[in-house]
Amino acid sequence: MENFVLKSCTESEHVVEFGSGDGSPVINSLLRTNFHGVIRGFELNTSAWKVANSTIDEYNLAHKYVIYNSSLFDASKPEAKYLVANPPYLPAPDNDIYMPLLFGGIDGAKFTNELLLLGYDNALLLISSYSNPKGTIEYAKANGYFVNNFLVLPLKFGYYSSEPKVKKHIAELQKNQMAFYSGDYYFLAGVLFKKRQYCTVDLSNELAQIMTSL
Ligand SMILES: C[S@@+](CC[C@H](N)C(=O)[O-])C[C@H]1O[C@@H](n2cnc3c(N)ncnc32)[C@H](O)[C@@H]1O
Repeated sequence: MENFVLKSCTESEHVVEFGSGDGSPVINSLLRTNFHGVIRGFELNTSAWKVANSTIDEYNLAHKYVIYNSSLFDASKPEAKYLVANPPYLPAPDNDIYMPLLFGGIDGAKFTNELLLLGYDNALLLISSYSNPKGTIEYAKANGYFVNNFLVLPLKFGYYSSEPKVKKHIAELQKNQMAFYSGDYYFLAGVLFKKRQYCTVDLSNELAQIMTSL
């Protein structure tokens, strides 16, 4: 977030965020950078939204970070140079799981792909290797994006991704080359997608190779 978005914003640019949660990733980044624009976040979970607002007040960031307790998809596309999101990406047969708001559709990539369809010039999205990463990379390309940059981290399956119903579904996806993991570990990538008219570099193949390597 800091390196791919905030430090690239030299003027008072606008950023839109889908799924702010308790706001901590953005708040921590704002406290570490000299960003002069405004970030507009959207979060459906009312408890998380309240926590985010109280932390925003505590650090006097209300002029830089505003969160709405609603879905970005119900708003009339707010203007912004960047879209950022750690979207819900748990794949499952349906949303009857421990935390329904983390359900990412049958292949886990539903929200990620819908966010790419909004057509922002730059989109920084977190993508999991068990949520049909190849499908998302191809979808981004079909919608005019290049992969401008990315960072990959190995992560251990957590409480929500280890729910038996979810884990079993992920194992099924693995058989169909739609999920890639090794034992208890998967990859999570922060990917900066850029509309190809603003970008000469395309690391789509490199990202696909890494995300399918487990
Ligand atoms: C993976 S969490 C990310 C939370 C936080 N941004 C972070 O990185 O820690 C995804 C968030 O998206 C929220 N969410 C799910 N569907 C949403 C929607 N349609 N509109 C806004 N937020 C949504 C969930 O409640 C959850 O807080």
